[in-house]
Amino acid sequence: MSTPVKKVPLHLQSAQNRLLIKHGKIVNVDSVVDGDVYIEDGVIKQVGSNLIIPGGTRIIDARGKYVIPGGIDPHTHLEIEFMGAKSVDDFYRGTKAAIAGGTTMIIDFALPKKGQSLLETYQKYRESADEKVCCDYGLHVGVTWWSDKVREEMEILCKHHGVNSFKTFMAYKDVFMLGDSELFEVFERCKELGAVALVHAENGSIIAKKAQQLLAAGITGPEGHQLSRPEPVEAEAVGRACVIANQVNCPLYVVHVMSKPAADVLVQARNVSSASGQSPVFGETLVAALASDGKQYRHTCWYHAAAHVVSPPLSPDADTKNHLLRLLAEDGLQLVGSDNCTFSLDQKAMGKDDFTKIPNGVNGVEDRMSVVWEKGVHSGVMDVKRFVAVTSTNAAKIFNIYPRKGCIAVGSDADIVVWDPVKTRVISAKTHNQAVDFNIFEGMECHGVPEYVIVNGRVCVDEGDLKAVQGFGKFVPTPVYSEYVYEKVKHAEEDATLNSVSVPAVVTKMNELKLDIAVENGGILLEPKLADEAPVSPAAEASLTSCPSSKGQRNLQDSTFSISEELDDTARKSCIRVKNPPGGQSSGGFW
Ligand code: URP
Ligand code: ZN
Ligand code: ZN
Repeated sequence: MSTPVKKVPLHLQSAQNRLLIKHGKIVNVDSVVDGDVYIEDGVIKQVGSNLIIPGGTRIIDARGKYVIPGGIDPHTHLEIEFMGAKSVDDFYRGTKAAIAGGTTMIIDFALPKKGQSLLETYQKYRESADEKVCCDYGLHVGVTWWSDKVREEMEILCKHHGVNSFKTFMAYKDVFMLGDSELFEVFERCKELGAVALVHAENGSIIAKKAQQLLAAGITGPEGHQLSRPEPVEAEAVGRACVIANQVNCPLYVVHVMSKPAADVLVQARNVSSASGQSPVFGETLVAALASDGKQYRHTCWYHAAAHVVSPPLSPDADTKNHLLRLLAEDGLQLVGSDNCTFSLDQKAMGKDDFTKIPNGVNGVEDRMSVVWEKGVHSGVMDVKRFVAVTSTNAAKIFNIYPRKGCIAVGSDADIVVWDPVKTRVISAKTHNQAVDFNIFEGMECHGVPEYVIVNGRVCVDEGDLKAVQGFGKFVPTPVYSEYVYEKVKHAEEDATLNSVSVPAVVTKMNELKLDIAVENGGILLEPKLADEAPVSPAAEASLTSCPSSKGQRNLQDSTFSISEELDDTARKSCIRVKNPPGGQSSGGFW
């Protein structure tokens, strides 16, 4: 006979369930407000002043501190098998370290090898991650080869498994790399499904040739990694990816933009696409690129140099970090990821005599928030609202989990950091929480320390003490047709079909989604929902009544949706907006 579970009356439940963060500066992308945040059962229940709260609530004093959305790292590789090695930070150590640094959600990559099933790879990652993660996580899926099966599996992943983003590679020839026509197919498919195409932009064919030449010339050390990947090779691929995505009107997210020329090409593509109403382009840079540079590849210690091997490489130009930071501050770039992909020095030593065999990847999941604060906010390049945008909110919006994540508002998940802007810490591999035995930010002093990190309502960093819990996190489905992304695609399609009375495919798809949901919810429009799995979280539902209304967010006031009105409006726009006359338009000449 099983032991009966004793129900604890609500008023006697642990104060862990109820938390009040008092007197902090509450930061969202568009506001900094003095106030209190009340949390119950993992969800933000009240935000404001003079809140009425139940007894037995734990109180955290946030006077003099910022209360910010927990970081979302859009780019990690925990437990990846890559270049003959498995990354040492697994889903437990990696997410524990993330929390220690103020990140409360990661988005990792399920990357199949060529010929492998996307679905099976995804399931393998889910099985491993679900039981280990200390914080919530999502998954991008890699498309590393092309076939009808891949096409079908992309749809299944989107419809039933909470995936809305696919990573393609223009580098890693013969391993992950796709050719232009395959990229075209994948981007077209992403667009059909309402997904976001992610791209690793480097010209893999040129890199392979240059690597051969360098090895033949006797250059075998880590500096060869950088020499085989000159900056124009990254910039060329960024431009090509933008052109291909534009041809199929697919939203594109360029991961790990590492050099000035690549960033400039991306900014130009963004400007042209937004000025001419074309599908959007987003750019992510890495925390490594903001705090380190390519002179590390010439360090006298081989291990030190090899520990910095990442692709695209750190730039040889010492000014690149400032350039990327400025672009981040000005919205030329939108996000900072870590690309945390950690290999031990023993594993790096696989490339002792041949730089092409050094497993590529660096740390960053733990230190991303502090380093961006130090380089961005403490140095005066960006304000605290922009810090929140580039470390959490933009990822939440692009991957369609906003306002559940990336926001401090009633109904959002209680993923919150109480950030002390004055306190300092010095980064070191000796004290970090990651499994890896090297830290590329070693010795860096950072102002800005997470004093409390609250993960789904649970205090996992408590006055600086880490109390992460294995398996406490869960998979967060990312629904397709992010409004933040696809609103722009919709306009591009409307423009492209100006001479037709037919409704653009994206508009029809977005409306179908809205109609399904409106019917399911008795006519009240909620966030998009996936067919089977991936329900809208209660948090997101609750937030509808109280979140600030902004793009990508809805509340009940603006929820009365009429399909006929929307279609009428589309048809009307199709008739009167003549932005793209037959024969083309002039739009700055990027495409
Ligand atoms: O060097 C890197 N970036 N390693 C991880 C794999 C990737 O390309 O993102
Ligand atoms: Zn990559
Ligand atoms: Zn990566």
